[in-house]
Amino acid sequence: MNAFIRDIPKAELHIHIEGSLEPELMFALAQRNNVSLPYPSVEAVRAAYQFQNLQSFLDLYYAGTAVLRTEQDFYDLTWAYLQRCVQQNVRHAEIFFDPQSHTERGIPFEVVHAGLYRALQDAKQKWGITSYLILCFLRHLSAKSAMATLERSLPFKSTILAVGLDSSELGHPPSKFQKVFDRARDEGFLTVAHAGEEGPAAYIWEAIRSLGVARIDHGVRCTDDPELVDYLAQQQIPLTVCPLSNIKLCVFNSMQQHNLKHLLELGLCVTVNSDDPSYFGGYIAENYEAIQSALHLSHQDIYRLARNSFSASFLPPHEKQSRLNELDRFMAAVV
Ligand code: ADE
Ligand code: ZN
Repeated sequence: MNAFIRDIPKAELHIHIEGSLEPELMFALAQRNNVSLPYPSVEAVRAAYQFQNLQSFLDLYYAGTAVLRTEQDFYDLTWAYLQRCVQQNVRHAEIFFDPQSHTERGIPFEVVHAGLYRALQDAKQKWGITSYLILCFLRHLSAKSAMATLERSLPFKSTILAVGLDSSELGHPPSKFQKVFDRARDEGFLTVAHAGEEGPAAYIWEAIRSLGVARIDHGVRCTDDPELVDYLAQQQIPLTVCPLSNIKLCVFNSMQQHNLKHLLELGLCVTVNSDDPSYFGGYIAENYEAIQSALHLSHQDIYRLARNSFSASFLPPHEKQSRLNELDRFMAAVV
């Protein structure tokens, strides 16, 4: 089963590139950039990754970005993630980045973008991995700051497919960013948003109605509202679910209690993703493995999840079909 999970062609639709910063690279970049870290060793960093909720994680996650300073740092970060994609047969990735966590530290938007984008282009050339960038606004900051960030991104519009919304969910409802998302859609961006991770089902409705999102990131709390579940199923609005993240951040008490299988049974377009793999103990394959063993998912369930990952992607129809064909050829060869 684990080899099947590793090898099945899949897409990743919910990965924060800053959340793929492994402690080893964190230390290497700290040394390269003369940044001091509040940890004596790589082991001490890993030992600190015990979280009680989303905020306790975010505090460490933002602190970790301090080592990222040059275009090459952003390239190396992205390249390391793309190597994992090769190992786990991720054929397409839609990657979040948080420009405000860098521009607030004085790192220019252009520097961040150039490093990320160059790595993605190199991976396309070298391995045929396709990818899109999704610019996320930090919802704990103001709508004004988000609007300024959107404006900074406009010269790079052709290389950024969508905008998203992340960071501290509770107390920062999607409607706070309605005007920013209206402007983003006018500029041609697609939209997604984190909703219903820690926040209520009402935030999922808001993300759909106020922000016009094409997908919901997380969304696991939709089951608190049966009408919403019906709507998500009817409209096939995908959820990008992140099982290891949900356990690490105490959204569910154990993997056995995760509602992913229930969501699939309800007919929702569920996908499996890693969120912040360095912080939560695994990349996409480890997420598939953890949920498969806890909920006794079948090969057919795994196939369904991989299929959903391509269907829910923003690839144009012909590229989507070609990825789905690749998936079906893989299935025909293994059964
Ligand atoms: N930023 C990085 N990971 C996140 C998550 N799981 N929820 C909200 N914001 C995030
Ligand atoms: Zn996330």
